[in-house]
Amino acid sequence: MIIAIDGPAASGKGTVAKRLAAHFAYPHLDTGALYRAVGLTVLRQGLDPNDAAAATEAARGLDPAIIDDPEIRSGEAGAAASKVAIVGAVREALLAFQRDFAARPPGAVLDGRDIATVICPGAERKIFVTASVEERANRRLKELLGRGEAAIYARVLADLRERDARDAGREDAPMIQAADAYLLDTTTLDADQAFAKALAFVTDGTR
Ligand code: C5P
Repeated sequence: MIIAIDGPAASGKGTVAKRLAAHFAYPHLDTGALYRAVGLTVLRQGLDPNDAAAATEAARGLDPAIIDDPEIRSGEAGAAASKVAIVGAVREALLAFQRDFAARPPGAVLDGRDIATVICPGAERKIFVTASVEERANRRLKELLGRGEAAIYARVLADLRERDARDAGREDAPMIQAADAYLLDTTTLDADQAFAKALAFVTDGTR
């Protein structure tokens, strides 16, 4: 069984994905980490993440070690990720890895923006996790402060809005809820409640 989870930044999709993977003993792929790794590589080269050629080269030659670098979690790497993610050749370079990961038995959980629509359109279960942008900004602010990054709410909110618009507005594989996906709004849910709803959907299709 392939479980495809999509949604905007800080919606809770990563937590839901991790917990579903643990529950079913499936491997989990956070596909955002791939785009963050490409974005961070470009930044470290002193290049502009909007530079399509630089981004493509970084994606084609991606060093897997950078995926484990905690710095990919920074706000800067997230913004760079959504810039390199616009480039079709970058997405293409990361496609086979994601599909191979999903195809291995007994199944997998993948989370991202285009899992249900592009990477695994045949996934048995599709969930689109979302939450209000204000709630997502609160969560992201807490996370950044917890990691010792300097952050203020207004800036985090503006950055999320900008990233949402870029991710939903791009031509290639835009962030969108698949027609057959279950919409899970976590605005008023804690992690346990969100997981319980996701699990009920995956187990017996409860919406
Ligand atoms: O999920 P996360 O915030 O780590 O993703 C970082 C960025 O990577 C997103 O804003 C998006 O632009 C890009 N991304 C994507 N497709 C995916 C996963 C992430 O375009 N499947």
